[in-house]
Amino acid sequence: MEFKDVVRARRSVRAFRPDPVSRATVEDLLEIASLAPSGTNIQPWKVHVVAGATRDRLEREVLAHRETRPEDGKAEFARTEKRKEPYLSRMRALGKDMYGRIGIPRGDEAASWRQWGRNYSFFDAPVGLIFTIDKDLDSMSFLDIGMFMQTFMLAAKDRGLDTCAQGAWNLFWTATRRVLSIPDDEYIIAGMALGYADDEHPVNGVVATREPLEQIATFHG
Ligand SMILES: Cc1cc2nc3c(=O)[nH]c(=O)nc-3n(C[C@H](O)[C@H](O)[C@H](O)COP(=O)(O)O)c2cc1C
Repeated sequence: MEFKDVVRARRSVRAFRPDPVSRATVEDLLEIASLAPSGTNIQPWKVHVVAGATRDRLEREVLAHRETRPEDGKAEFARTEKRKEPYLSRMRALGKDMYGRIGIPRGDEAASWRQWGRNYSFFDAPVGLIFTIDKDLDSMSFLDIGMFMQTFMLAAKDRGLDTCAQGAWNLFWTATRRVLSIPDDEYIIAGMALGYADDEHPVNGVVATREPLEQIATFHG
């Protein structure tokens, strides 16, 4: 695929087939991701790759934590779920499309809770990734790890693989920290599902639209 076709083809996939992804493939994708730029080249990214029994244990323990202590659904660093316009409308449009496709009516809190919980099963993907950075780095490192993640996602698409970036993994982080022995001086920034899309699943029909350029760009000079 040409570069622009890879960029256009990448979508967040939220239902995967069980087909495995080899360790060699993940290593290859991580090598490419590590070519991402970072401020002063500090390369702050750290990544835990989970598969097999560890992946299943992580899923089990995080979901159990979420059921017993839903109030722990908070990140360790500043985050807000309170959105103002125009972000609120964009977020709602995504939610309406997604939940509509899988038949969850607006206001069905129990079904929405269950569907959001699918994040912690990596949407059934065979491989999950958990991204961390040292806590004493400054906020520029949040950009760096985002670039690493995007490079990884595009490299994956180029190989016919699919992904979903998952902020969900910075919630209920105590269970993730315990299962993966992540040191206390690292923030769990996000997770990612990696595998092959289940193209039959309606959730993968979601099309997250983009704003026209005039909404986002100001040209000077
Ligand atoms: C930093 C970040 C965190 C995200 N967290 C989640 C998440 O926890 N769960 C999820 O289903 N999608 C998550 N997404 C996917 C976004 O919803 C998605 O990228 C957006 O709707 C645009 O759709 P597209 O990726 O298909 O182009 C996340 C994306 C990013 C970049």
